[in-house]
Amino acid sequence: MRIRFLLALLMLCIGSIASAQNLEKGKEINATCAGCHGEFGQGGSRGEYPRLGGLGVKYLESQLKAFRARTRINIPMYPYTQERELPDEDIRDVAAYLASIELPTKWPVFKDSDDALTRLTMTERVMIIPRVPGNLANGEAIYQKQCHTCHGKTGMGRGMFPMLVGQYTSYLKRQMDKYVKGERPHDEEAIGGVLNKLKEEDMQDILAYITTLQEQQ
Ligand code: HEC
Ligand code: HEC
Repeated sequence: MRIRFLLALLMLCIGSIASAQNLEKGKEINATCAGCHGEFGQGGSRGEYPRLGGLGVKYLESQLKAFRARTRINIPMYPYTQERELPDEDIRDVAAYLASIELPTKWPVFKDSDDALTRLTMTERVMIIPRVPGNLANGEAIYQKQCHTCHGKTGMGRGMFPMLVGQYTSYLKRQMDKYVKGERPHDEEAIGGVLNKLKEEDMQDILAYITTLQEQQ
């Protein structure tokens, strides 16, 4: 009984050492990605480069594989995801690392004793997506009827369904346009897709509503 317990404990320790190593390796790999997506995966250039920090592991992995297989066409990402650049094992490690990064959505409260560098480090990771205009009631009604089953009631996503809240609005809009044009597959099951049935104003309203959700996190 006791031995079994000790063995289980040992396995647990080995497991956590291994995952710490993977995160360390993921961090190294991320140095290549940081040039575009930022050191903490906070994205940049107002959504030209999407946020990656805090997205789900499964989703990150699936997208990296989709770029490699060209089922999701992306010219800047394609070379970085080739097997020799980023083997499956590296995809796992970098996805685990990026998923583990927390990006706060509130400004920190400084103490008088915090020096400039401390203040800078505390604010670097803060990621607040500005509100965008739109009819919030309409956005909410559509979102909570047609999007929440996959992307979650608070937009946090799960598994292979991406988090939408906290992502750059311009990036989300660009993706919606790509889905509608058939350049990127969205929800395969529904022929025509859920996004194809939306009017342009509805999309704007949904995006506006999503920017209000981060305050509830
Ligand atoms: C040269 C710039 C560049 C580099 C370097 C780069 N990316 Fe990207 N990445 C992009 C762009 C641009 C997009 C958005 C494509 C679009 O608009 O569809 C993107 C999109 C993504 C997405 C999809 C995010 C989402 O929400 O769907 C993932 C995941 C991703 N990159 C991961 C990585 C990882 C991991 C690395 C490093 C191995 C990396 N990228 C390196 C430019 C880059
Ligand atoms: C049946 C499940 C499902 C429903 C319902 C759904 N989505 Fe999605 N959505 C997905 C999946 C899966 C992806 C990732 C697709 C991929 O692998 O490229 C996605 C991706 C997205 C993306 C791109 C995110 C990124 O980081 O690149 C946006 C934007 C989006 N959905 C918006 C919506 C909106 C708005 C609605 C409601 C009108 C909606 N979705 C309803 C499954 C769903």
